[in-house]
Amino acid sequence: MSATALLSKETPLTNGQGWRLEVFDHVPSTNSCASQLPAWSAVRAVTQSAGRGRAARHWVSDEGGLWLSAVVPCPGSRKKWEILPLAAGWAILGALRELGVSEPRLRWPNDILVGRGKLAGLLVERFTNDTAVIGVGLNLSNRPEWVDPSLAGLTARLDDLVDGAYTVEDVTESLLRAFRGMHTHLIERGFYGIADDLNRAWKRPRRVEITLNGGAAAFHGFFQGIDPYGRLCLVTENEGLRLYDANQVALLRELE
Ligand code: BTN
Repeated sequence: MSATALLSKETPLTNGQGWRLEVFDHVPSTNSCASQLPAWSAVRAVTQSAGRGRAARHWVSDEGGLWLSAVVPCPGSRKKWEILPLAAGWAILGALRELGVSEPRLRWPNDILVGRGKLAGLLVERFTNDTAVIGVGLNLSNRPEWVDPSLAGLTARLDDLVDGAYTVEDVTESLLRAFRGMHTHLIERGFYGIADDLNRAWKRPRRVEITLNGGAAAFHGFFQGIDPYGRLCLVTENEGLRLYDANQVALLRELE
């Protein structure tokens, strides 16, 4: 299904940070809509029919949630920008704290949790050589478990976590502002401060189960945070320290 009803363009963002936002009532995927847009464009939709998650999973995108894709410039080598998903996760944590969410956390590589419930997920995709699309799905007043009962008990909603209701417009503005700040940080100071910040916040070591892409059996280890390149540092009993890129790991399950 193609995109329907453009609700608004150039939504005024009061932070004056120059995002150009297009809002649709329904699209297949905001990431796909944003794929060929120039840097500093963003797309939001009220619902998505083919929202994508990591590892080609379907992402439930019912009305009341925030489904947003933001296009950022990525000058230089592709390698240099492999840390973008983690940096975007770090930016979302900052925005959520400012909105009053207490103790949001990142489950490597890019699930945003509160307690054990998933509040938001991130999918960063590269469609062009000089930009990346940061796609974020955040549960706000929607009920993803009503659409997919297997999600019952696994999700969190912003409405349940803060006093007073935020609109999708409020949260959109917070996230876009945070992505601008994160991008400036990466250009001016690189990833190091962000990696340190994330490592400080993580409970380490944490016992986890890892499933690698490619169908091999899951195995257990201790999550030790990330290295300066954003790779997962995992210590296993038999093999000691192993490093994994996000694209090697299909699933990280926390065991404690
Ligand atoms: C995950 O946790 O697996 C990532 C989910 C990312 C979902 C968002 S919703 C907006 C954007 N458009 C998509 O198709 N996916 C992302």
